[in-house]
Amino acid sequence: MPKKNLYIETYGCQMNEYDSDRITAALDAVVTDDPKRADVIIVNTCAIRDKADQKAFSSLGKYKHIKAKNPDVIVGVAGCVAQLYGDSMLKRMPHLDFVLGPRAIPKLPEIISDIERKKIRTVETSYDIEELFDVEPYHKAGEVTGFVSVQQGCNKRCTYCIVPYVRGDEVNRALEDIITETENLVNKGVREITFIGQTVNSWKQKGYKFGDLLRAAGDIEDLERIRFTTSYPRDITKRMIDAMKDVPQICPHIHLPVQSGSNDVLSKMNRTYSREWFVDTVNRLRDEIADFAISTDIIVGFPGETDKDFEETMTLLEEIRFESAFSFIYSPRPGTPAAEISGDECVEKEVASTRLAQLQQRQSDITFENNNNRVGTIEEVLVEGPSKKNENFVTGRTTQNRITNFMGPQALIGSVVKVKITEGLQNSIRGELVV
Ligand code: 5AD
Repeated sequence: MPKKNLYIETYGCQMNEYDSDRITAALDAVVTDDPKRADVIIVNTCAIRDKADQKAFSSLGKYKHIKAKNPDVIVGVAGCVAQLYGDSMLKRMPHLDFVLGPRAIPKLPEIISDIERKKIRTVETSYDIEELFDVEPYHKAGEVTGFVSVQQGCNKRCTYCIVPYVRGDEVNRALEDIITETENLVNKGVREITFIGQTVNSWKQKGYKFGDLLRAAGDIEDLERIRFTTSYPRDITKRMIDAMKDVPQICPHIHLPVQSGSNDVLSKMNRTYSREWFVDTVNRLRDEIADFAISTDIIVGFPGETDKDFEETMTLLEEIRFESAFSFIYSPRPGTPAAEISGDECVEKEVASTRLAQLQQRQSDITFENNNNRVGTIEEVLVEGPSKKNENFVTGRTTQNRITNFMGPQALIGSVVKVKITEGLQNSIRGELVV
């Protein structure tokens, strides 16, 4: 049978990107960038905030006409929105053939063949725990970096977050399977892997802890760099820090969401740490690991957030000086405890927008200053590809995760080179190849 043409649109986190590659592999499909040429169209969705959720419906709406013209094309929704709304999506969108929860990817080939043979519409949001990690992602030839999932689901219960409800409780993957998948990628030319999990550093399995997994990855030959995301603050352990100190391939960078600088808000969010504890932990990481970088996520406008609470988030930016921060306005999500809060507790939309703008302005200045502080240093850059803007330039990232552009031949792609930093920009830095 000829391979199917798959058009897949992906929203949301790295786990969704990874899952889209698993979907591609599960179907043994050829990816097309033209939905009109596709045999199967899939939108892999994100439910983290209302906006992302709405985006799923508007994206799917676009394929109504294609389905009307060609009833044989199979249109499906995957990811967290699929899990959240289940069969109500089939009712709402008559052109949809299937709804697939994020844990049900291994069942996809059977679902597609059932649709083809029996012309039935399907909702699959259940899963077999033994199969959870069964499909390894499709790997695009020539890619220098890759993700490896080490965990699915989440055992934390942050009161704003929908993830545990759509991705389920934490399930950790076997160490041997993680290492084998990583080795397979390295054999295909990948130089840098990022272990991914909702709270990646809470990974544990058969007596092994996250630090042990990092060390095991450090023993893989020809693997230049090891990263991981996203870390949960309270699961940072000595074993993890020691591994980061001892294994030179582990990049000195952590993405560590703080969410708020106010203890009242942190407690209402059920983040299980205080501002002071977070600052101490960051200081400890910076003391122990040389030239350490930290990025974060922040939510503004959480129910009950006062001007004073927000001010505490602003002072935290000064105290920590994150390399970068992703920030969001709180969005109530169905089924989460925080979504039950209503009335006076809720922060007005305009207030939240003003706070977000203020926070983003300050952080963008800090990021710019931090980027400029690198000028004059010589950094190791893993070259990932041609630069988008200039054909004589290549692009890569420093160990601290800064995007770096510099003049150099495409032949450098896949190698680690030394670059002298000459200029700090808003979202990246520029440099010169050191020869
Ligand atoms: N509203 C706004 N932002 C959210 N995040 C998670 N849930 C919500 C929500 N309900 C943010 C957090 C998290 C990031 C991935 O998305 O900052 O770290």
